[in-house]
Amino acid sequence: MKTRTGILISGRGSNMASLIHAAGQPNYPAEIAIVISNHPDAPGLAIARKYGICVEVIANAAYGGDRGAHEAAIDTALRNADCTTVCLAGYMRLLTPFFVRRWEGSMLNIHPSLLPAFRGLNTHARALAAGVKIHGCTVHLVTEMMDEGPILAQAATPVLPDDTEASLAERVLALEHKIYPTALACHASGKPLPPPNKVRSLINPCISC
Ligand code: GAR
Repeated sequence: MKTRTGILISGRGSNMASLIHAAGQPNYPAEIAIVISNHPDAPGLAIARKYGICVEVIANAAYGGDRGAHEAAIDTALRNADCTTVCLAGYMRLLTPFFVRRWEGSMLNIHPSLLPAFRGLNTHARALAAGVKIHGCTVHLVTEMMDEGPILAQAATPVLPDDTEASLAERVLALEHKIYPTALACHASGKPLPPPNKVRSLINPCISC
């Protein structure tokens, strides 16, 4: 039985696409049951439709400031689609404790930094400003604190002397597209996480999950 997974997006949807693509492989342990966007004009919606995935727009604007009602609608859509796992893929709204608790242990997020460094927004610019030599991305389980929670997978890249925010973002995004499908597969199959010494190299993109 494949793990029925719902993906929440707000925009471009490139991580969503990497998950859908991976889930199209016969031996992949998860299937994408639904993609939900809180923005009606998210470009990722067209990509999901092209793959034939069930798509739903649950616009937060339609709920005014009622975050609970908006999240209850998302929760209902996920359960109607028989999802047991949720992947946040560029879903740019903070979730309330209600929703986080409903999906505790079954909700993954991808974040464009090596957590716990650079939680929040503008991670690449902040990494450059801080002068870090290594940057990357993280897949983690979602808990009530923003960009916190048990880390499932990370990938790193060196920061190069001539890197710009855009060049760094592009390199990290390519890593995101590798680790998110890997992390979801580990999570869905219940595969134990290998020890950290499985991370082989900081120069080549490294994946540990
Ligand atoms: C990705 O870089 C993702 O890591 C980031 O938003 C981008 C979405 O791109 N998420 C966050 O910053 C969440 N804290 P995508 O829509 O092309 O996947």
